[in-house]
Amino acid sequence: MKENIFSGVQPSGIPTIGNYIGAMKSFVDLQDQYNATYCVVNQHAITVPQDPEKLRKMTRQLAALYIALGVDPKKSTIFVQSDVPAHAQLAWIIQCLTGLGELERMTQFKDKSAKNETVNAGLLTYPTLMVGDIVLYKAKYVPVGEDQKQHMELTRNFVDRFNSRFGGILVKPDIITPKEGGRIMSLQDPTSKMSKSDSNPKGFISLMDEPKTVVKKIKSAMTDSLGQVNYDKENQAAISNLLVIYSNLSGQSIDQLVAQYDGKGYGQFKTDLADLVASFLEPIQSKVNQLMSSSDLTDILSEGAKKASQTANETLAEIEAAVGLRY
Ligand code: TYM
Repeated sequence: MKENIFSGVQPSGIPTIGNYIGAMKSFVDLQDQYNATYCVVNQHAITVPQDPEKLRKMTRQLAALYIALGVDPKKSTIFVQSDVPAHAQLAWIIQCLTGLGELERMTQFKDKSAKNETVNAGLLTYPTLMVGDIVLYKAKYVPVGEDQKQHMELTRNFVDRFNSRFGGILVKPDIITPKEGGRIMSLQDPTSKMSKSDSNPKGFISLMDEPKTVVKKIKSAMTDSLGQVNYDKENQAAISNLLVIYSNLSGQSIDQLVAQYDGKGYGQFKTDLADLVASFLEPIQSKVNQLMSSSDLTDILSEGAKKASQTANETLAEIEAAVGLRY
C-alpha cells in the first residue's frame, strides 16, 4: 500500500513562485508515489483579516492552481478545509493538549502578531489546526517549504505525546523539503523570504502575474556589483536566489547555469529568466481561468471533500474514543 502524504496552502493571497518551488512543485512530483491529499486551508487564512468576497475567489483560484500546476484529481484528493468539519473539531482537542508556551514560541506567530495591531486567539492556536490537518490523514510525509519546519516539529512532538498517553493511534510525519528552493527569497531583499503578503509586490512573482509584469519584476530584481553569475549564498545572495528559481523551472542544474552564463553578466541572465518564468506561467494561467469559469472545479472539490471526510471522520472517531469523548 502507498504511504500517505498531506499538504496545504493558505488562500490568503495569490501563491508566489516561492510557494510553487518550495511546496506545490512537490505536490505534483510526489502524487504518483504516494496516496496524496492536498487541501486549500481556508480556515488558516482567517487568522488574519480577510475580505469575504476575495477569500471566496482566492479559495477557488488556489484549487484551480493546484490542478493547473499538475495535481491530477484522479490521482490526488483535492479539497477545501472548511468542507470537512473534522479539521475544526480535532483542532479543539489538540488545543486542549498543547501548552500555551509551545504556541507562543512559534516564529510565525511572533512575526504575524508583530505585524498586526490586534492579535486574535486563532493566530496563536493556528498550529494546532495544522497539526490536526496532518494527523487526520495519517500522513507519513508532508511536503512544505523550510518555514514550516517549526510547525512540523510541533506536530511530531504532539504525536509522540498523544501516542504515549492514549495509545499508538497517530502517525509521526516527516517533512519533505526541496534540496534547493525550500526558501525562495524576496527579489528586492535576499535576506527576507518571498511572501505572497509582502506589501511591496516587486518582491515576489505571483503565479497569476502577467508576462509583462514578470519581465519588469525580474529586470528590477536586486543583484550586486560583482557582475558575475555565481552561486554563493553568502556573498551573492540575490543572484544565488535567482539561480535557484532558474534551476527549478528549467530542470538545469545550478552548475550548468553558472557555466552557461560565465562571462555574460546579469542582463542576458535576467532576460532569459524572465522569458522562462513568463512562458512557464502562461499555460497555467489560461488553465486556471478556464477552470474558474467551469462547473468541473465545483465537482472536483465536492468529490474531494467527500473522500477527505471519510478518512478524516474515521481518524477523528478513533481520537475521540481514545480521549474519552465517545461514551
Ligand atoms: P503558506 O500558505 O504560507 O505556504 C504554502 C507553502 O509554501 C511554502 N513557502 C515557501 N517555500 C519556499 N520559499 C518561500 N519563499 C515560501 N513561502 C512559502 C510554505 O512552506 C508552504 O509549504 N501553515 C502552512 C499551511 C498549512 C499546512 C497544513 C501545510 C496548513 N495546514 C498542513 C502542510 C500541512 C502555511 O502557512 O503555508
